[in-house]
Amino acid sequence: MRAAKRGEIVAGCNPVTSASGSLRLDVSIPVPNEAHRAGVFSWHAAGTSHSVLLLRPPGVYRADSDTSLLIEVMCAGRYPVGRRVLDIGTGTGALALAAARAGAASVTAVDLSLRSILATWLNCRIHRARCTVYRGDLFEPVAGQHFDLIVANPPYVPAATNGLSRHRINRCWDGGTDGRAVLDRLCTGAPELLSPEGMMLIVHSAVCDDSVTLRRLTDAGLHAKVLTRCTVPFGPVMRLRAAMLEARGLIQPGQRNEELVVIAAHASAGGRGVP
Ligand SMILES: C[S@@+](CC[C@H](N)C(=O)[O-])C[C@H]1O[C@@H](n2cnc3c(N)ncnc32)[C@H](O)[C@@H]1O
Repeated sequence: MRAAKRGEIVAGCNPVTSASGSLRLDVSIPVPNEAHRAGVFSWHAAGTSHSVLLLRPPGVYRADSDTSLLIEVMCAGRYPVGRRVLDIGTGTGALALAAARAGAASVTAVDLSLRSILATWLNCRIHRARCTVYRGDLFEPVAGQHFDLIVANPPYVPAATNGLSRHRINRCWDGGTDGRAVLDRLCTGAPELLSPEGMMLIVHSAVCDDSVTLRRLTDAGLHAKVLTRCTVPFGPVMRLRAAMLEARGLIQPGQRNEELVVIAAHASAGGRGVP
């Protein structure tokens, strides 16, 4: 067991306590292959590999390396065990399903898209995971409820404009010109839904600046830190936008990798994984 170097992708997913006492992880991101393209989604948790076939209607996000990374961090920290989990922007329900399998007391999933909600409901039924699903905008459908763990893989890719689509598939990745349109709302809205010991785990690309996420979470009254970083090759959307991102100085010329960052934000100081 060893600490992962910043940005390194290595085999296994082992929680490591560093000298500073913070959680360090070795994570492995499955390389997309034929099975992945056919809808099989895999992740590693507590030394066990899981593979599930996820139904994915057109217009629903295909669980990808960001999904895998968040699941591996979530499972390595055993964060869902016995907790009320909320998956915001659930897509096919991959995170919701992984949380249920990891021992969550209850799982709730929200998405703006009706097809995503149907996919999540079906995928959870097929894989015998209990999950309550809601269609709606971020925290709106669950206002007034409280959760011990919120997980989110929001849209975070910088786009040409600030317009956010509700019905087209770019809803899954477009985050406005700086990539932060949905991310910032998550940071601001989370405290009202977190239980006193609750935490939120967010994954996003460093292209939309994780230091801003830490600042926004802190401004919202949460205790936030980066849990892990992992460098992955650009996916299709980032490849298509590479020239625009270069022109705006958001990536280096010729850069075709991005760093994914998982951030933990706690309602109270002293929670698991808190600095
Ligand atoms: C990057 S995808 C992640 C899907 C899934 N959680 C995963 O990791 O595979 C982002 C998801 O957020 C949803 N979404 C985008 N804007 C939203 C909003 N304002 N409220 C709720 N869901 C939203 C999209 O429909 C999409 O399913």
